[in-house]
Amino acid sequence: MHMETQTGSKPIGDFNFLDPALLDDPFDYYRALHEQAPVYLMPETGMYIIAGYDDLRTILLDTETFSNNLDGYGMLQGENWKVHQEILEERGWPDLSTLNFTDPPTHTRYRKVADTIFNPKRIAALAERIEQLCNAQIDCFIDRGECEFVSEFAFPLVGTIISEQLGLDSGQMGQFKKWGEAIMAPTSRVMTVEELRENAETIVEMQQFIAGKLDERRKDPRNDLISALVMARGDDGEELNMLELQSLMRQFLSGTYESVVTMISHGMLILLRNPDVMAKLRADLSRVPDFVEEALRYDSPVPGLARVVTRDTQVGGVDIPAGSIVMTRYAAANRDPAKFDDPGKFDMDRKNRAHHLAFGNGPHFCVGRALARRELNLAFTTLLTRLNDIELARPLPDPLHVPHALLRPMKELPIRFTKIDMA
Ligand code: HEM
Repeated sequence: MHMETQTGSKPIGDFNFLDPALLDDPFDYYRALHEQAPVYLMPETGMYIIAGYDDLRTILLDTETFSNNLDGYGMLQGENWKVHQEILEERGWPDLSTLNFTDPPTHTRYRKVADTIFNPKRIAALAERIEQLCNAQIDCFIDRGECEFVSEFAFPLVGTIISEQLGLDSGQMGQFKKWGEAIMAPTSRVMTVEELRENAETIVEMQQFIAGKLDERRKDPRNDLISALVMARGDDGEELNMLELQSLMRQFLSGTYESVVTMISHGMLILLRNPDVMAKLRADLSRVPDFVEEALRYDSPVPGLARVVTRDTQVGGVDIPAGSIVMTRYAAANRDPAKFDDPGKFDMDRKNRAHHLAFGNGPHFCVGRALARRELNLAFTTLLTRLNDIELARPLPDPLHVPHALLRPMKELPIRFTKIDMA
């Protein structure tokens, strides 16, 4: 039996962050955090979760106190992570901290390279190709009148775009999925030594492939992101070395795949659950970017990442000792009632919808956000242009999401629809 607090939420201590049911539907938990403890030391993880919008922004901007210099992939694995590292050292390339695992000024060097590769001009030039791929994916299932949206639209679309950009053939997309999942698997749960060994073998396989592609592009550059990476120079004018390149590629692969697939899938789910929103968009497709921004706020596909605290500090009146880990819970901050009125309501007309922190903020502000927004906007514009009467084809699985502390992958989204005659 739960006692309810004055505010209506059950006491924060009654929630367990690692419970798959909570991860599947975390919004009551976020509400309880806002009401009772916006900075909260979770007994089940030993981390401080940050739910308040202003507190989170302060943390993201203060890289001296809240450092990214932590083993982002192995954080949950304790001593067993060594096994993983040894395999990479023996047969692949050992981890080197770059970009999201560094602080300025080291970070600035890698960020310059990443910003060059993902610059808005280069991304704008991909628009035509992205639209073609949206249409090609829809062509595969439109005559059937139904599809499993995650595996037949969101994943192959995002997978093909990034495969093309990173030098894989789309025929190798299965590989790509396997690698993307392997990169993030250790961040989702505690794994056994055997699982970590297998995971490291998969990472080595990916590294060997990447090394080959980098070599090919060095000799014969093309108009893709991987060629831009090979040609990039650090701030010292030197090319990046293999360890740096491997580390960056790993972050590009993990950043691109899961988060955009999840956001496209959640965007569709939001449309199904809010027919008024779908109607509004159909009537005026120029509102798609507003829909996308509100969807990023409403159900953020990278719910949280982490920082390590470098000195004793205080956040929101709570003392946090040096050495602590804080979980930067973007998804909770985006539901903070102090920032967003009636945060549980999907409202694409809200004025401050674009102030969400779904892409973070500060020096680590998502480098792929222009690409992600381009993919999302084109995906929904194309879908609404070609499909009518979209509805759920059968009940959703329960739980709907694969349990994950930092991401929010959806298992499936079966839909049916009628075809819009384009003649
Ligand atoms: C809807 C899709 C996406 C979401 C919600 C998202 C979210 C985020 C967030 C929250 C951060 C900040 C990390 C921090 O605070 O430390 C981040 C950083 C990053 N994202 Fe994304 N991302 C998305 C798509 C992409 C894409 C398409 C790429 C392309 C490669 C990408 C690559 C990266 C990289 C490399 C960083 C690290 C940047 C740095 O440390 O300077 N992301 N992303």
